[in-house]
Amino acid sequence: MTKLLFVCLGNICRSPSAENIMNHLVEKAGLGDLITCDSAGTASYHVGNPPDRRMAAAARKRDIELLGSARQFNKQDFENFDLILAMDRENYENILALDRAGKYKDKVRLMCDFCQIYDLKEVPDPYYGGLEGFDRVIDLLLDACGGLLEYVKSDLVDR
Ligand code: 4NP
Repeated sequence: MTKLLFVCLGNICRSPSAENIMNHLVEKAGLGDLITCDSAGTASYHVGNPPDRRMAAAARKRDIELLGSARQFNKQDFENFDLILAMDRENYENILALDRAGKYKDKVRLMCDFCQIYDLKEVPDPYYGGLEGFDRVIDLLLDACGGLLEYVKSDLVDR
């Protein structure tokens, strides 16, 4: 079983989108028994909240339902997951700040490293922007999740 954790700031916009898009692609590929997904935020402001309505509406346009409720990233996650995908550099730094010894550095990656079409380096935070920003997050994550699935599949073959 490969365990993936998607991490953003609040865990109500970008990372729940990544989690649910990835689940959608994993199911479509028939790999539900081999890959599991979860998401978390580096901040605690929205713990227990459902995904943002604007984000959920953008996902629904692509036939993806955003399920789940927000939780905060914690040190135990370093042990519990195989790969931790940060949406932006700030998330990446905040995650690694909890790993003082650098033991888990190789598990933490930027989500956009897996993009195949877009050449953006970060998934932009849509929270204080216009509605088009939410659509852009979905498009970018569909691309990155597709690349991530190829990566995980090749890793499964190597094992
Ligand atoms: P997310 O978006 O990190 O993609 O879930 C945000 C959600 C909430 C806030 C910022 C970003 N906030 O400042 O409350």
